[in-house]
Amino acid sequence: MNIKYFVKTVEKKKDHLSIKWNDNFKSKFHFLWLRDNCPTAIHPTANMRVFNILTVSKRIFPKKYTIENNKLNIDWSEGKHSSKFDLKWLRDHCYTEINREKYSSPYVLWNGKLKNNFNKIKLDHDKIINNDKYLKKWLELLHSYGFAIVKNSPIKRKSCFKILNRISHHRETFFGTPFEVVNIPKPNNTAYTAQALRNHTDLPYFEYAPGYQFLHCLINDATGGKSSVVDGFAVANHLMKKELEAFKILTSTHVKFKDTDYTQKAIRILHSPIITLTKDNDFNDIRFSMAAMGAIDINPKKMKEFYDAYQLFASLLHNNKFKINFRLNAGDIFCFNNRRVLHGRTEFDPNSGNRHLQGYYVERDEIIARLNYFNNIKV
Ligand SMILES: [Fe+2]
Repeated sequence: MNIKYFVKTVEKKKDHLSIKWNDNFKSKFHFLWLRDNCPTAIHPTANMRVFNILTVSKRIFPKKYTIENNKLNIDWSEGKHSSKFDLKWLRDHCYTEINREKYSSPYVLWNGKLKNNFNKIKLDHDKIINNDKYLKKWLELLHSYGFAIVKNSPIKRKSCFKILNRISHHRETFFGTPFEVVNIPKPNNTAYTAQALRNHTDLPYFEYAPGYQFLHCLINDATGGKSSVVDGFAVANHLMKKELEAFKILTSTHVKFKDTDYTQKAIRILHSPIITLTKDNDFNDIRFSMAAMGAIDINPKKMKEFYDAYQLFASLLHNNKFKINFRLNAGDIFCFNNRRVLHGRTEFDPNSGNRHLQGYYVERDEIIARLNYFNNIKV
Protein backbone atom coordinates (compact mmCIF):
# COMPACT_ATOMS: atom_id res chain seq x y z
CA MET A 1 0.00 0.00 0.00
CA ASN A 2 1.14 3.56 -0.75
CA ILE A 3 3.04 5.16 2.17
CA LYS A 4 0.54 8.01 2.21
CA TYR A 5 -1.99 5.64 3.80
CA PHE A 6 0.13 5.12 6.93
CA VAL A 7 -0.07 7.42 9.92
CA LYS A 8 2.88 9.03 11.73
CA THR A 9 1.01 10.87 14.49
CA VAL A 10 -2.50 11.71 15.67
CA GLU A 11 -3.16 14.74 17.85
CA LYS A 12 -6.40 15.82 19.45
CA LYS A 13 -7.08 19.52 18.91
CA LYS A 14 -9.99 21.69 20.09
CA ASP A 15 -12.54 20.49 17.54
CA HIS A 16 -10.67 18.00 15.34
CA LEU A 17 -8.08 15.25 15.14
CA SER A 18 -4.93 16.26 13.31
CA ILE A 19 -3.35 13.34 11.47
CA LYS A 20 0.16 13.49 10.09
CA TRP A 21 0.64 10.86 7.41
CA ASN A 22 3.80 9.08 6.35
CA ASP A 23 4.20 11.43 3.37
CA ASN A 24 4.11 14.30 5.94
CA PHE A 25 0.73 15.58 4.75
CA LYS A 26 -1.40 16.91 7.62
CA SER A 27 -5.18 16.39 7.61
CA LYS A 28 -7.88 17.81 9.81
CA PHE A 29 -10.81 15.58 10.71
CA HIS A 30 -13.49 17.39 12.69
CA PHE A 31 -15.18 15.42 15.46
CA LEU A 32 -18.71 15.72 14.12
CA TRP A 33 -17.53 14.85 10.60
CA LEU A 34 -15.89 11.70 11.97
CA ARG A 35 -18.94 10.70 13.97
CA ASP A 36 -21.20 11.38 10.97
CA ASN A 37 -18.98 9.22 8.75
CA CYS A 38 -18.56 6.30 11.15
CA PRO A 39 -18.75 3.17 8.93
CA THR A 40 -21.68 1.95 11.06
CA ALA A 41 -23.55 5.09 9.95
CA ILE A 42 -23.93 3.63 6.47
CA HIS A 43 -26.45 0.95 5.56
CA PRO A 44 -24.49 -2.08 4.30
CA THR A 45 -26.52 -2.70 1.14
CA ALA A 46 -28.42 0.54 0.54
CA ASN A 47 -25.10 2.41 0.97
CA MET A 48 -26.99 5.33 2.48
CA ARG A 49 -26.51 7.07 5.80
CA VAL A 50 -28.72 5.69 8.56
CA PHE A 51 -27.09 7.76 11.29
CA ASN A 52 -29.16 10.73 12.49
CA ILE A 53 -27.01 13.81 13.17
CA LEU A 54 -29.59 14.94 15.75
CA THR A 55 -28.69 12.05 18.09
CA VAL A 56 -25.38 13.66 19.12
CA SER A 57 -24.49 17.11 20.42
CA LYS A 58 -22.04 19.55 18.88
CA ARG A 59 -19.82 18.98 21.95
CA ILE A 60 -19.11 15.34 21.07
CA PHE A 61 -15.39 14.41 21.17
CA PRO A 62 -13.17 11.31 21.13
CA LYS A 63 -12.62 10.09 24.72
CA LYS A 64 -9.98 7.71 23.45
CA TYR A 65 -8.32 7.21 20.06
CA THR A 66 -5.74 4.71 18.83
CA ILE A 67 -4.22 3.53 15.56
CA GLU A 68 -4.12 -0.24 15.14
CA ASN A 69 -3.97 -2.50 12.08
CA ASN A 70 -4.48 0.33 9.58
CA LYS A 71 -7.52 1.56 11.48
CA LEU A 72 -8.28 4.64 13.51
CA ASN A 73 -10.33 3.58 16.55
CA ILE A 74 -12.36 6.14 18.45
CA ASP A 75 -14.41 5.80 21.64
CA TRP A 76 -16.87 8.65 21.66
CA SER A 77 -17.91 10.82 24.59
CA GLU A 78 -21.58 10.28 23.78
CA GLY A 79 -23.86 7.33 23.06
CA LYS A 80 -21.37 4.67 24.25
CA HIS A 81 -20.35 4.43 20.62
CA SER A 82 -17.05 3.35 19.03
CA SER A 83 -15.93 3.89 15.45
CA LYS A 84 -13.31 2.07 13.40
CA PHE A 85 -12.08 3.95 10.35
CA ASP A 86 -10.09 2.42 7.58
CA LEU A 87 -7.04 4.70 7.19
CA LYS A 88 -7.13 4.43 3.40
CA TRP A 89 -10.75 5.59 3.40
CA LEU A 90 -9.85 8.53 5.64
CA ARG A 91 -6.98 9.63 3.44
CA ASP A 92 -9.03 9.22 0.25
CA HIS A 93 -11.75 11.41 1.78
CA CYS A 94 -9.38 13.93 3.37
CA TYR A 95 -11.09 17.24 2.78
CA THR A 96 -7.97 19.23 3.67
CA GLU A 97 -6.39 17.71 0.58
CA ILE A 98 -9.49 17.72 -1.65
CA ASN A 99 -9.96 21.43 -1.03
CA ARG A 100 -6.40 22.20 -2.06
CA GLU A 101 -6.77 20.51 -5.42
CA LYS A 102 -6.98 22.93 -8.28
CA TYR A 103 -10.24 22.58 -10.18
CA SER A 104 -9.80 21.31 -13.70
CA SER A 105 -12.65 21.71 -16.16
CA PRO A 106 -13.93 18.59 -17.95
CA TYR A 107 -14.83 20.71 -20.99
CA VAL A 108 -12.85 20.95 -24.20
CA LEU A 109 -13.89 24.27 -25.72
CA TRP A 110 -14.05 24.33 -29.51
CA ASN A 111 -14.75 26.74 -32.32
CA GLY A 112 -15.33 26.71 -36.09
CA LYS A 113 -11.97 25.01 -36.67
CA LEU A 114 -13.38 21.75 -35.31
CA LYS A 115 -14.90 21.32 -38.78
CA ASN A 116 -11.38 20.46 -40.06
CA ASN A 117 -11.34 17.63 -37.57
CA PHE A 118 -14.92 16.52 -37.90
CA ASN A 119 -14.18 12.78 -37.79
CA LYS A 120 -13.18 13.29 -34.18
CA ILE A 121 -16.80 13.73 -33.14
CA LYS A 122 -18.31 11.03 -35.38
CA LEU A 123 -19.17 7.61 -34.04
CA ASP A 124 -20.76 4.45 -35.34
CA HIS A 125 -24.24 3.46 -34.18
CA ASP A 126 -23.81 -0.33 -33.94
CA LYS A 127 -20.52 -0.10 -32.09
CA ILE A 128 -22.24 1.95 -29.37
CA ILE A 129 -24.98 -0.66 -29.17
CA ASN A 130 -22.57 -3.60 -28.93
CA ASN A 131 -19.52 -2.39 -27.07
CA ASP A 132 -19.33 -0.81 -23.60
CA LYS A 133 -15.91 0.73 -24.22
CA TYR A 134 -17.21 2.43 -27.32
CA LEU A 135 -20.31 3.56 -25.44
CA LYS A 136 -17.97 5.16 -22.91
CA LYS A 137 -16.13 6.91 -25.74
CA TRP A 138 -19.46 8.41 -26.87
CA LEU A 139 -20.25 9.58 -23.33
CA GLU A 140 -16.78 11.11 -22.97
CA LEU A 141 -17.22 13.03 -26.20
CA LEU A 142 -20.62 14.25 -25.08
CA HIS A 143 -19.26 15.36 -21.73
CA SER A 144 -16.06 17.01 -22.97
CA TYR A 145 -17.08 18.43 -26.38
CA GLY A 146 -20.82 18.53 -25.72
CA PHE A 147 -21.31 17.42 -29.31
CA ALA A 148 -21.18 14.21 -31.36
CA ILE A 149 -22.70 12.78 -34.51
CA VAL A 150 -23.69 9.12 -34.52
CA LYS A 151 -23.51 7.72 -38.05
CA ASN A 152 -25.15 4.69 -39.66
CA SER A 153 -28.15 4.47 -37.39
CA PRO A 154 -31.38 2.84 -38.61
CA ILE A 155 -33.88 5.23 -40.18
CA LYS A 156 -36.96 3.58 -38.74
CA ARG A 157 -39.18 5.85 -36.68
CA LYS A 158 -38.54 5.74 -32.91
CA SER A 159 -35.48 3.54 -33.45
CA CYS A 160 -33.29 6.02 -31.51
CA PHE A 161 -34.73 4.73 -28.21
CA LYS A 162 -32.46 1.70 -28.48
CA ILE A 163 -29.21 3.66 -28.45
CA LEU A 164 -30.47 6.13 -25.82
CA ASN A 165 -31.40 3.25 -23.56
CA ARG A 166 -27.69 2.37 -23.56
CA ILE A 167 -27.36 5.55 -21.49
CA SER A 168 -30.54 5.63 -19.43
CA HIS A 169 -34.15 6.78 -19.56
CA HIS A 170 -35.17 9.87 -21.53
CA ARG A 171 -36.56 13.20 -20.32
CA GLU A 172 -40.21 13.68 -21.12
CA THR A 173 -41.66 17.05 -22.07
CA PHE A 174 -45.02 18.27 -23.31
CA PHE A 175 -43.71 17.93 -26.87
CA GLY A 176 -43.78 14.13 -26.43
CA THR A 177 -40.98 11.68 -27.18
CA PRO A 178 -39.82 11.62 -29.81
CA PHE A 179 -40.88 15.08 -30.94
CA GLU A 180 -41.30 15.40 -34.67
CA VAL A 181 -39.18 18.08 -36.32
CA VAL A 182 -41.09 18.42 -39.56
CA ASN A 183 -43.02 21.30 -41.08
CA ILE A 184 -46.72 21.16 -40.23
CA PRO A 185 -49.70 23.41 -40.88
CA LYS A 186 -50.55 25.85 -38.04
CA PRO A 187 -47.25 25.17 -36.23
CA ASN A 188 -47.18 25.57 -32.44
CA ASN A 189 -43.41 26.06 -32.57
CA THR A 190 -41.09 27.64 -35.14
CA ALA A 191 -39.13 24.35 -35.20
CA TYR A 192 -42.17 22.86 -36.95
CA THR A 193 -41.91 25.23 -39.94
CA ALA A 194 -39.58 25.30 -42.92
CA GLN A 195 -38.09 28.61 -41.73
CA ALA A 196 -34.52 29.20 -40.67
CA LEU A 197 -33.85 28.77 -36.95
CA ARG A 198 -31.21 30.97 -35.36
CA ASN A 199 -28.79 29.24 -33.03
CA HIS A 200 -30.55 28.45 -29.77
CA THR A 201 -30.81 26.13 -26.82
CA ASP A 202 -34.12 24.32 -26.43
CA LEU A 203 -36.68 25.03 -23.75
CA PRO A 204 -34.82 27.79 -21.86
CA TYR A 205 -38.06 28.61 -20.03
CA PHE A 206 -37.80 25.40 -17.97
CA GLU A 207 -36.17 25.79 -14.57
CA TYR A 208 -34.26 22.65 -15.52
CA ALA A 209 -33.79 22.81 -19.28
CA PRO A 210 -33.20 19.41 -20.92
CA GLY A 211 -29.54 18.41 -20.60
CA TYR A 212 -28.91 16.64 -23.89
CA GLN A 213 -30.73 16.61 -27.15
CA PHE A 214 -30.60 13.90 -29.80
CA LEU A 215 -31.88 14.78 -33.25
CA HIS A 216 -32.28 11.64 -35.30
CA CYS A 217 -32.39 12.34 -39.02
CA LEU A 218 -34.78 9.98 -40.83
CA ILE A 219 -34.77 11.81 -44.14
CA ASN A 220 -33.25 15.05 -45.39
CA ASP A 221 -33.51 15.41 -49.14
CA ALA A 222 -35.12 18.85 -49.25
CA THR A 223 -33.13 21.79 -50.59
CA GLY A 224 -31.65 23.86 -47.72
CA GLY A 225 -32.06 22.84 -44.09
CA LYS A 226 -28.35 22.88 -43.27
CA SER A 227 -27.62 22.50 -39.57
CA SER A 228 -25.44 24.74 -37.45
CA VAL A 229 -23.78 24.13 -34.13
CA VAL A 230 -21.79 26.37 -31.79
CA ASP A 231 -20.11 25.86 -28.44
CA GLY A 232 -21.83 28.35 -26.13
CA PHE A 233 -19.20 27.78 -23.42
CA ALA A 234 -16.41 28.70 -25.88
CA VAL A 235 -18.22 31.92 -26.82
CA ALA A 236 -18.89 32.71 -23.14
CA ASN A 237 -15.21 32.07 -22.45
CA HIS A 238 -14.27 34.50 -25.22
CA LEU A 239 -16.52 37.13 -23.60
CA MET A 240 -14.99 36.50 -20.20
CA LYS A 241 -11.49 37.03 -21.60
CA LYS A 242 -12.15 39.88 -24.03
CA GLU A 243 -15.43 41.55 -23.00
CA LEU A 244 -15.58 41.24 -19.25
CA GLU A 245 -18.30 43.87 -18.76
CA ALA A 246 -20.63 42.07 -21.18
CA PHE A 247 -19.82 38.76 -19.51
CA LYS A 248 -20.69 40.15 -16.08
CA ILE A 249 -24.01 41.48 -17.35
CA LEU A 250 -24.97 38.17 -18.98
CA THR A 251 -24.08 36.18 -15.86
CA SER A 252 -25.94 38.47 -13.45
CA THR A 253 -29.03 39.77 -15.27
CA HIS A 254 -32.17 37.68 -14.83
CA VAL A 255 -33.99 37.91 -18.13
CA LYS A 256 -37.40 36.55 -19.00
CA PHE A 257 -37.90 33.37 -21.03
CA LYS A 258 -41.41 32.26 -21.82
CA ASP A 259 -43.54 29.76 -23.66
CA THR A 260 -47.20 30.16 -24.56
CA ASP A 261 -47.68 27.16 -26.86
CA TYR A 262 -51.29 27.35 -28.03
CA THR A 263 -51.74 23.56 -27.79
CA GLN A 264 -50.97 23.65 -24.04
CA LYS A 265 -53.05 24.76 -21.10
CA ALA A 266 -49.91 26.17 -19.51
CA ILE A 267 -47.96 29.42 -19.48
CA ARG A 268 -44.30 28.98 -18.73
CA ILE A 269 -42.18 31.86 -17.45
CA LEU A 270 -38.65 31.75 -16.10
CA HIS A 271 -36.23 34.50 -15.15
CA SER A 272 -32.59 33.44 -15.42
CA PRO A 273 -29.23 34.82 -16.51
CA ILE A 274 -28.23 33.78 -20.04
CA ILE A 275 -24.92 32.39 -18.75
CA THR A 276 -24.67 30.69 -15.35
CA LEU A 277 -21.57 29.44 -13.55
CA THR A 278 -20.81 26.59 -11.15
CA LYS A 279 -19.37 26.79 -7.63
CA ASP A 280 -15.90 26.50 -9.25
CA ASN A 281 -16.69 29.39 -11.61
CA ASP A 282 -16.80 27.01 -14.54
CA PHE A 283 -19.64 27.27 -17.05
CA ASN A 284 -22.90 25.69 -15.99
CA ASP A 285 -25.66 26.68 -18.41
CA ILE A 286 -26.25 28.69 -21.51
CA ARG A 287 -29.88 29.71 -22.12
CA PHE A 288 -30.24 31.39 -25.43
CA SER A 289 -33.21 31.58 -27.72
CA MET A 290 -34.31 34.75 -29.43
CA ALA A 291 -37.59 32.93 -30.11
CA ALA A 292 -38.30 32.06 -26.47
CA MET A 293 -37.15 35.35 -24.97
CA GLY A 294 -39.96 37.26 -23.26
CA ALA A 295 -40.27 41.06 -23.22
CA ILE A 296 -37.32 41.89 -20.98
CA ASP A 297 -38.47 43.50 -17.73
CA ILE A 298 -35.24 44.50 -15.99
CA ASN A 299 -34.55 47.86 -14.35
CA PRO A 300 -34.60 50.58 -17.06
CA LYS A 301 -31.19 51.81 -15.86
CA LYS A 302 -29.74 48.48 -16.96
CA MET A 303 -31.64 47.99 -20.22
CA LYS A 304 -29.18 49.63 -22.60
CA GLU A 305 -26.13 47.85 -21.25
CA PHE A 306 -28.04 44.55 -21.23
CA TYR A 307 -29.02 44.90 -24.90
CA ASP A 308 -25.43 45.80 -25.81
CA ALA A 309 -24.15 42.63 -24.12
CA TYR A 310 -26.97 40.44 -25.46
CA GLN A 311 -26.47 41.61 -29.01
CA LEU A 312 -22.71 41.10 -28.78
CA PHE A 313 -23.21 37.53 -27.48
CA ALA A 314 -25.80 36.84 -30.20
CA SER A 315 -23.47 38.05 -32.94
CA LEU A 316 -20.59 35.87 -31.68
CA LEU A 317 -22.91 32.85 -31.49
CA HIS A 318 -23.54 33.32 -35.21
CA ASN A 319 -19.98 34.19 -36.18
CA ASN A 320 -18.09 31.81 -38.49
CA LYS A 321 -15.16 31.95 -36.08
CA PHE A 322 -17.24 29.93 -33.64
CA LYS A 323 -20.04 28.13 -35.48
CA ILE A 324 -19.97 25.10 -37.76
CA ASN A 325 -22.40 24.45 -40.61
CA PHE A 326 -22.98 20.89 -41.70
CA ARG A 327 -25.58 18.75 -43.36
CA LEU A 328 -27.44 16.07 -41.44
CA ASN A 329 -28.02 12.95 -43.51
CA ALA A 330 -30.50 10.14 -43.06
CA GLY A 331 -29.13 7.82 -40.37
CA ASP A 332 -27.26 10.58 -38.48
CA ILE A 333 -28.01 11.36 -34.85
CA PHE A 334 -26.95 14.90 -33.93
CA CYS A 335 -26.21 14.74 -30.19
CA PHE A 336 -25.44 17.76 -28.05
CA ASN A 337 -25.43 19.21 -24.56
CA ASN A 338 -28.48 21.46 -24.79
CA ARG A 339 -27.34 23.51 -21.81
CA ARG A 340 -24.06 24.35 -23.53
CA VAL A 341 -24.19 23.88 -27.29
CA LEU A 342 -26.56 25.84 -29.51
CA HIS A 343 -28.10 24.52 -32.68
CA GLY A 344 -29.88 26.03 -35.65
CA ARG A 345 -30.72 25.43 -39.28
CA THR A 346 -31.13 27.28 -42.53
CA GLU A 347 -34.47 27.56 -44.26
CA PHE A 348 -35.51 24.60 -46.40
CA ASP A 349 -37.86 24.22 -49.35
CA PRO A 350 -40.58 21.72 -48.36
CA ASN A 351 -41.65 21.38 -52.00
CA SER A 352 -38.22 20.12 -53.04
CA GLY A 353 -38.19 17.00 -50.84
CA ASN A 354 -38.69 15.72 -47.30
CA ARG A 355 -36.99 16.67 -44.08
CA HIS A 356 -37.91 14.76 -40.96
CA LEU A 357 -35.99 14.58 -37.69
CA GLN A 358 -37.12 12.92 -34.49
CA GLY A 359 -35.95 14.57 -31.28
CA TYR A 360 -35.27 13.14 -27.83
CA TYR A 361 -33.97 14.58 -24.57
CA VAL A 362 -31.86 12.90 -21.90
CA GLU A 363 -30.72 14.63 -18.71
CA ARG A 364 -27.09 15.67 -18.28
CA ASP A 365 -27.10 13.78 -14.96
CA GLU A 366 -27.56 10.52 -16.84
CA ILE A 367 -24.52 11.03 -19.07
CA ILE A 368 -22.30 12.02 -16.13
CA ALA A 369 -23.63 9.25 -13.87
CA ARG A 370 -22.92 6.57 -16.51
CA LEU A 371 -19.43 7.97 -17.04
CA ASN A 372 -18.80 7.89 -13.28
CA TYR A 373 -19.94 4.28 -13.29
CA PHE A 374 -17.60 3.32 -16.15
CA ASN A 375 -14.76 5.21 -14.46
CA ASN A 376 -15.53 3.42 -11.18
CA ILE A 377 -15.60 6.74 -9.27
CA LYS A 378 -15.51 6.24 -5.50
CA VAL A 379 -17.73 8.38 -3.29
FE1 LIG B 1 -34.23 23.37 -31.19
